[in-house]
Amino acid sequence: MSTLSAAEQNPLASLDVWEDDLLERYPDPEAIAQGKTTEEYRNYDNPGRDTVREFYRLNHTYQTYDFVLKKEREFLKFDKKEMPIWDAFTFLNQLVDDSDPDTDLDQLQHLLQTSEAIRADGHPDWMVLVGLLHDMGKVLCLFGEPQWAVVGDTFPVGCAHSDKIVYPEFFKANPDTYDERYNTKYGVYAPNCGLRNVHMSWGHDEYVYHMVKDHLPEQGLYMLRYHSFYPQHREKAYDHLMDDHDREMFKWVDLFNPYDLYSKNPTPPNWAELRPYYEDLVAKYLPATLKF
Ligand SMILES: [Fe+2]
Ligand SMILES: [Fe+2]
Repeated sequence: MSTLSAAEQNPLASLDVWEDDLLERYPDPEAIAQGKTTEEYRNYDNPGRDTVREFYRLNHTYQTYDFVLKKEREFLKFDKKEMPIWDAFTFLNQLVDDSDPDTDLDQLQHLLQTSEAIRADGHPDWMVLVGLLHDMGKVLCLFGEPQWAVVGDTFPVGCAHSDKIVYPEFFKANPDTYDERYNTKYGVYAPNCGLRNVHMSWGHDEYVYHMVKDHLPEQGLYMLRYHSFYPQHREKAYDHLMDDHDREMFKWVDLFNPYDLYSKNPTPPNWAELRPYYEDLVAKYLPATLKF
């Protein structure tokens, strides 16, 4: 891994390419019913299939059980930075890539479109806040983490990789595939032990969950922690690790997912107009500063 250059570690032109690819895999059922295609959500002619493939090759090769534990130790200390959430959005927006045709729609826009779509449907205010926060963990990129350790579908580590995970063939290069401790159905876990006992591949979901876990209702925390866990919320590949409580909570993860995937819209929300509402919302639930 240390032999890879920064460019080799980061094949995607921007993090959004991964999310555009998700839309290809999981098109909006409502748009299909109305005869629209997912193209209308995208500003790309081609999201770069090969770069997505290469991205998953790296992700599946290097996301091992040991790697995850190491990243948890490194980042869940939250000793890197401390700032008000508003500064964090500015920080996050440094992720905008000039080569991306989508430059107007920076990270904050995606967060606001998600949260505004949730608000428009009359969901509880903490869920609106989840929409606003859910990708905050992408700041990991700004701490020098490679794309494959920030985004991508997440999956449990420490047990067999499901063949329902996208590009399962790339797990052939993952050392855990050949490690008897980790390559059985349950691996280091007990049957239906509950996801709180399961280590997920490392990325922006787990990171943001820990960042705000003392401040939001549990339903919201599940949305944050498992929003990229497509192998479960779309493919039902890990029922054998979940308990009844997880199943109950995943109704909320399922409720959240379409807002993340299908709320993209070329019209940017009017931030100046929205700001007072969001300032009150943030003040209601979160401390004055967030630790990173
Ligand atoms: Fe995300
Ligand atoms: Fe998102």
